[in-house]
Parts: sequence; C-alpha cells; structure tokens
Amino acid sequence: MSFAAQGTHKIDRSAFRFAERMNGLKASAIREILKVTEMPDVISFAGGLPAPELFPVEQFARACQEVLTEDGPAALQYSVTEGYLPLRQWVSDYLHETNHIECTPDQVLIISGSQQGLDLIGKVLLDPGDLVIIENPAYLGAIQAFDAYQARYVNVGTDDEGILTDDLARVLAQAKKLPKLLYLVPNFQNPSGITLSLPRRKQVIAICAEHGIPIFEDDPYGRLRYSGDHLPSITALASGLNCIYMSTVSKTIAPGMRVAWLVMQDRALYEKVVPAKQAADLHTSSLTQRAVYAYARRPGGVEAHVKTMLPVYARRRDVMLKSLEEFMPEGCSWTRPQGGLFLWARMPDSVDTQELLALAARLKVAFVPGAPFWVNCDVRNTMRLNFSNASDDMIVEGIRRLGDVVEAYMAGAR
Ligand SMILES: Cc1ncc(COP(=O)(O)O)c(C=O)c1O
Repeated sequence: MSFAAQGTHKIDRSAFRFAERMNGLKASAIREILKVTEMPDVISFAGGLPAPELFPVEQFARACQEVLTEDGPAALQYSVTEGYLPLRQWVSDYLHETNHIECTPDQVLIISGSQQGLDLIGKVLLDPGDLVIIENPAYLGAIQAFDAYQARYVNVGTDDEGILTDDLARVLAQAKKLPKLLYLVPNFQNPSGITLSLPRRKQVIAICAEHGIPIFEDDPYGRLRYSGDHLPSITALASGLNCIYMSTVSKTIAPGMRVAWLVMQDRALYEKVVPAKQAADLHTSSLTQRAVYAYARRPGGVEAHVKTMLPVYARRRDVMLKSLEEFMPEGCSWTRPQGGLFLWARMPDSVDTQELLALAARLKVAFVPGAPFWVNCDVRNTMRLNFSNASDDMIVEGIRRLGDVVEAYMAGAR
C-alpha cells in the first residue's frame, strides 16, 4: 500500500484557505492572452516585448566575464538589500545626466524589475481600502500590484496631453478620503503611448502639493523618444519632493536582467521600503547587478546602445501608423506616440475587442484588448498594439490582417 493511501483522512477538497486579499486577484489578462499569441504563425502585437535582435548579447557576455574575473566570489555572495553601491552611484549619475534628477546613491534602491517596485510601494503605503489615483486607462501591472494590497482606485481620464488636471483637481477637492498616492507613467504611457505635456506636469505637481499627495512616477520608456523634445521628469521638476521615481533596464538594455531602481528622497519612506524588499527577496541578484554596472560603465554606456535602438523602433512605429491608415476601416482611431513601445487604438463603439481577439486569432494576428486597462468603467472598444517586436514586413501584414478582422466583425462575423 502506498504511503498516501495509508492516511486516515481522505482529502477530497483543497485544504488551502486563501487570504482575503487574494479575492480580487486574477491572473493578468495579458499573460493569459500571450498564451494565444504563442501559437505558431501568429503575428503578435500583444506583448510589451523589446526587439530581441537588439539585445547586446556579446557585450553583456563580456561584462559577465569581467565581473566573474574581477570580482570572483563577491559576485556570487549574498549582498546588501539597498543594492551594489557602484551601480547605485551609476544610477544617480545617469539620472542627473539624462533627466536632471538630483539624487545621491543612498536615495537609490536597486530592485528586481520595476514590477517589484510597484509591489513594494503598495506593501509599504497601502492598507486595505486605501485610494490610489491612476490615469484611465492605466498600466495593468500596477493595478495588479496594488490590487494585492486591496487598494481602491480614483480614476482620472486622459486626453492626448495625458492626465486631465482639471479633473484631478476636482476629484481631490471632492474626495471624502485622501488618496495615498498618485501613480503616473508620464512618458509614452503603457497602454496609451501618450506623454504628459510640460504644463500638465507642472499642474500635477501643484495640485498634489496642495493636497499633500505623493507622486509615484514610473518611467520605463523615457529614453525611448523618437520624435519631439525630451520633457523634464516630474521628479526633477518637483526637486524630488514627495516623489518616488522608478525606472528599469528592461527597455534600454533587456528585460530578462530584472534590474531596476526606485529613487526616494524621503528618508522615512526609503527606510520602510528596504526591509519590505528584504522580506521579499533579500536583494536583487549580486551577479546581475554587477554585470549591469560593468556593461553600463563601458565608454558610451547605456546611452550608446539606446541610440542604436531608436531608429529601429522609430521606423516600426512609423510603419505601424502608415499601415493603420491604409488598412483600418472608417471609424477607427489611434494615438501617435512620440516614443515607447505601444499605441492605443479605438474601434467603433459596436466593437468588443475581447470578442474581436477570438476572430483575430483565427486570422493569426494578436493584440491586447483594452478592457482590463480601464478602471471602474466598462470600455470594450479599445486595444493596445505593440510595435517593437515585429519586423516591418510583419507589421504591414499583421495590420492588414487586423483591418480584415475588424471589417469582418463589423459585417457580423464572430
Ligand atoms: C509602466 C510600466 N511599469 C513597469 C513595468 C515593469 O517593468 P520591469 O521589466 O522593470 O519589471 C512595465 C513593463 O512593461 C511598464 O510598462
């Protein structure tokens, strides 16, 4: 008789009783959808994937070799939670050069991807029922991270200059409970591709200062600008006051490294986030942090690599915009982002893009339906399109298929 069968209690239902905070938590709609897009021959505009052919594989291999040769066992040892000091120094220099953000290495915390930063800030600031102000539509990963802490959302609409500051001021003036945080992606937002204009950045700072609301500025795409002028970050404009700034190497080098940073001028906040990270993973990989540093300190550093990516992504964006003009039926519209990886398309009101995806999968093209990005409202006719991960020819063919799918749907096909 097997050991399992000898037990006196026959278990015919799960013995796991989940924490209340898991009630609202769903698997990310994007991850579920990505499964569909992994089918062979599908042209996918669904993921947020950078172009793998642009990853600096050889240079990074050399950086890893250098680290192991020069640092030896230290690169394989446990390390401090705050992060590898030379990397934190590099981050503060890089943010000064590229973004005019003034911070010292002891205000920088290295994290295991920006996604961890969202989780840590949620963990440290949010009690169940606390309010977070977000743009609508908002980054799904942030909603997922804050959902785990049972946050509720105050959603503020956007136009082509970003979050509507009049609405933000009105919402705050009327709020019965003070929100704990404003979360924003000001550059080439995920999912919309929209950039917050300079006057709105200043208004956001003034409104939040008036109400004592901290701003969480999530900036993974700021360096990926293909047209227009670089805008100062909110954190730089606010001199870091009551701001949390976050960025990552995921879009400027490669996402598999899982290296990102939080910048927190507020000492009390920093000192809460460090033990929260310690409880989560002790520290970000010593080896990877050192390798990122060895890669970044090369002449030209990260910016030299970014320069090689920009023309490729710019061309792909342009090819997608031109193909949308050519192939999408009347009544569809889309954003024209100046950078980043995504654009956001709106179909005629009668189109439900979740239903459309099933039809699209049959024609072997994929996108992300927009509904999960909308908070506290039911908007069915939007979709996110990624332009960084497919070749020019694939973009043309994929958008041609998508145009056919929308036309077929509107003609009654399901
Ligand atoms: C706005 C935003 N924040 C955070 C992340 C997560 O980035 P990371 O790879 O650094 O975890 C992403 C990834 O797409 C993103 O778009």
